[in-house]
Amino acid sequence: MRIPLIAANWKMHKTVNEAAEFVHRFAMLAAAGDIETVICPAFVHLAAVGELCRKHGIRLGAQNMFWETAGAFTGEVSPPMLKDLGVDYVIIGHSERREHFAETDQLISRKVKAAFQFDLVPILCVGETLQQRQANKAMDVIAEQVSTALSGLDPSRVRRTVIAYEPVWAIGSGLAATGSDAGAAGERIRTTIGEMFSLKVARDVRILYGGSVNAENIQDFLRETEIDGALVGGASLDADSFARLVNSAQKAVVV
Ligand code: PGA
Repeated sequence: MRIPLIAANWKMHKTVNEAAEFVHRFAMLAAAGDIETVICPAFVHLAAVGELCRKHGIRLGAQNMFWETAGAFTGEVSPPMLKDLGVDYVIIGHSERREHFAETDQLISRKVKAAFQFDLVPILCVGETLQQRQANKAMDVIAEQVSTALSGLDPSRVRRTVIAYEPVWAIGSGLAATGSDAGAAGERIRTTIGEMFSLKVARDVRILYGGSVNAENIQDFLRETEIDGALVGGASLDADSFARLVNSAQKAVVV
């Protein structure tokens, strides 16, 4: 069974006090029930936010990491450093990192491998640009991103991976994909993994949708069989709005 997951990607937002206030208020308002919730603050807040998250049963995620264990890599953060802080998840290959920090599928693949070496679960982000979508290439782009990032991995690791389908045009734009668009992408991702590894492995992988998700549209995504949760940016910055989203999601996953 795939446990539904909703992850907050705070990007480069919040001071440490704002982050702490958020966790207290969110924990008071949210009734996550069967849903696993994850908060991904900036690196500098991982220790403080992690401590509060543990008290409230919220999981901790990082937004990025380097693949080397240690060494002369000024400004970078390694997988064991994250592990040491109690981090469970790490977002890898977000489209903002692909765009502003020139992350390629090959580089992303190294990060995915490094995450597993240190028992961190990668939330691998994939998704097409508007131009690729208009050229009818969305599905091929997604399949290529997934297969390069996961190539050479042990199947027992792949099955623990979380993949976030995040169409670039939907991120921060207020223009979310439709539930069925996300479902179709989810299906393509699962088929790709099935062909690379096995159907059994593919069935275990959790697939999220990301891109302008909010309390009003979350249920559209969760109704899709292939979508197991969401990666949320804008709507995760305010505790009330994120709690509303999680509570609305909880209604959709109750069977
Ligand atoms: P958004 O961001 O919810 O603000 O569109 C999602 C993301 O970038 O992960």
